[in-house]
Amino acid sequence: MKDIRKMVQQRYGKIADESCCFNNQGISDTAVNYANIDLSALPEEAIQASLGCANPLVFARLSEGETVLDLGSGGGMDVLAASRLVGDTGKIYGLDMTDEMLQLANSNKAKMGANNAEFLKGYIEDIPLPDETIDAVISNCVINLSQDKQKALSEAYRVIKPGGRLRIADMVSIKKISPKLREDAEMWCGCLAGTITIAEYESILQNCGFSNIKIEIAHVYTKETIGIRTDLGDIDGAFAGALISADKNVL
Ligand SMILES: C[S@@+](CC[C@H](N)C(=O)[O-])C[C@H]1O[C@@H](n2cnc3c(N)ncnc32)[C@H](O)[C@@H]1O
Repeated sequence: MKDIRKMVQQRYGKIADESCCFNNQGISDTAVNYANIDLSALPEEAIQASLGCANPLVFARLSEGETVLDLGSGGGMDVLAASRLVGDTGKIYGLDMTDEMLQLANSNKAKMGANNAEFLKGYIEDIPLPDETIDAVISNCVINLSQDKQKALSEAYRVIKPGGRLRIADMVSIKKISPKLREDAEMWCGCLAGTITIAEYESILQNCGFSNIKIEIAHVYTKETIGIRTDLGDIDGAFAGALISADKNVL
């Protein structure tokens, strides 16, 4: 699996282009995950475009005036929901590498008139923002897609202000995964093959310099909910959507 990033980009570009038929293709249920978040100001297209695996906004506790960054912002649902929470005195950036997703996100932003939201093109492994400028980094079902998770999370650490926080939702593996699934590029693009264990996540976050690391499982996927090919080993209960929190201490 050499150029996985290109494959991921093509996959999500195609999904964004076909957004008329998104119909919530994520592996998780947006209505359930976002039950406690007010999405009433968002365009329906942004909600339909959600491809997340849990909800980073439930525990990010964003407040008025904060500067926030969403890694892998897709069609922009989390950015637009967060734009309401940080208000006119705050700012929210969405970062994504896929042109078609950025186009969709910008169209959703225009429909909502969210002037405090800005979508940036770039890689999460090389964040185009200065050091220590962000209060909270959020993300939803993206880090698992990166082949260099250490680089992506150390970039997040770099841009977070001392005293700031990382509050992300991501897929993790909670059972041994067959090598066949691990090597399947389609499964990587589908947020499964690139998953790591909770212990691996904790270790990477520690290496990046984060403290107060907590990883909680939000929900476990059964073979019915995940609905993938049966030739890839026992995937029943092998993956979970997790809420991952870590802080950057004031030195
Ligand atoms: C599964 S979708 C999640 C989108 C969004 N967070 C949501 O909850 O709907 C993954 C998104 O991450 C972007 N992405 C994946 N890998 C990336 C990378 N290395 N750098 C920047 N964006 C990336 C893709 O283009 C896609 O829009």
